[in-house]
Amino acid sequence: MNKTSRDTDRIFNVILLGPPGAGKGTQAKILNQRFAMAHVASGDLFRENIAKQTALGLLAKSFMDKGELVPDDVTVRMVVERIAQPDCARGVVFDGFPRTQAQAQALDAALAQANKKIAAVLWVNVREEVLIQRLTARRICPTDGAVYNLLTNPPKIASQCDHDGSALIQRDDDKPPAVQRRLQVFHSQTQPLIDYYRAAGLLHEVQGEQPIERVQSEIVNIAERL
Ligand code: AP5
Repeated sequence: MNKTSRDTDRIFNVILLGPPGAGKGTQAKILNQRFAMAHVASGDLFRENIAKQTALGLLAKSFMDKGELVPDDVTVRMVVERIAQPDCARGVVFDGFPRTQAQAQALDAALAQANKKIAAVLWVNVREEVLIQRLTARRICPTDGAVYNLLTNPPKIASQCDHDGSALIQRDDDKPPAVQRRLQVFHSQTQPLIDYYRAAGLLHEVQGEQPIERVQSEIVNIAERL
C-alpha cells in the first residue's frame, strides 16, 4: 500500500484491541506504513529486551513463557518511555497495550499530559477456535521479525523466511499450554476494556476473521474517517 500525502498529513492515536492471534500485529504494521504512525507493540518491546538480556527482559520472560501478563507498573513505564520518543509525535498505533484497566487509565493520563488522546479503539473480533489455529500455526523469522502462518500465509520455501532465508521459529508462548493461558488471561483481564472504551465512545468493531486485506480495508475505512 502506498503512502499518500493526505494519509501522512493526519495525526492520531489508535489502539488495536483483541485477543492473542486476532491479527493486531499484522494490521498494525499496515497502518504504520499507510499512515506513517509509530507502531508501539508492548510484546515486541518485551521481546527486544529479552533478546538483549536486560533486567526488564528477564523479568518479562518469566511471565510471558507462562502466558501471564507482565505487571502493570513495569509495562506502563516501558510504554510511556517509548511514546515520549520523537517518532510517536506522528501518532501511534498501540498493539497489545493497554491490556488491563489500570494500563488504560495510565495511558489516558500520559496522553493527556502531552495534550493528546486516543482517537479510536479497533476491537478485532475473532472466535477462539480460529485464534488457537492461527497461534499454533504462526512462525516467525528471528532475523527480520516477519510473521508467517503455516495455514494462511506460508513461506514460499518450507520453514524459511522469504526475505533472508533464516530458519523460522515458533514463539514459546505459541505452544498449547501457554496459548490456553493467554486466552484465559485475555477474557479475565483485557476483555473488560471493550466496555471501558465503548463507554468512552471510542470503540469500533472489526470482523477479524476475514482475509488480511479485507480486515485492512475495514480498519483503513475507520481510520480515514478520523
Ligand atoms: P503479544 O506479543 O502482544 O502477543 P498477543 O497480544 O498475545 O498477540 P499476538 O502477537 O499473539 O497476536 P496478534 O494479534 O498480533 O496476531 P498476529 O498479527 O501475529 O504479547 C505476548 C506476551 O507479552 C503476553 O502474553 C504478555 O505476557 C506480555 N505482554 C505484552 N503486552 C503486555 C501488556 N500490555 N501488559 C502485560 N503483559 C504484556 O497474527 C497471528 C497469526 O495469524 C499470524 O500467523 C498471522 O499471519 C495470522 N493472521 C493474521 N491475520 C489473519 C487473517 N485476517 N486471516 C488469517 N490469518 C491471519
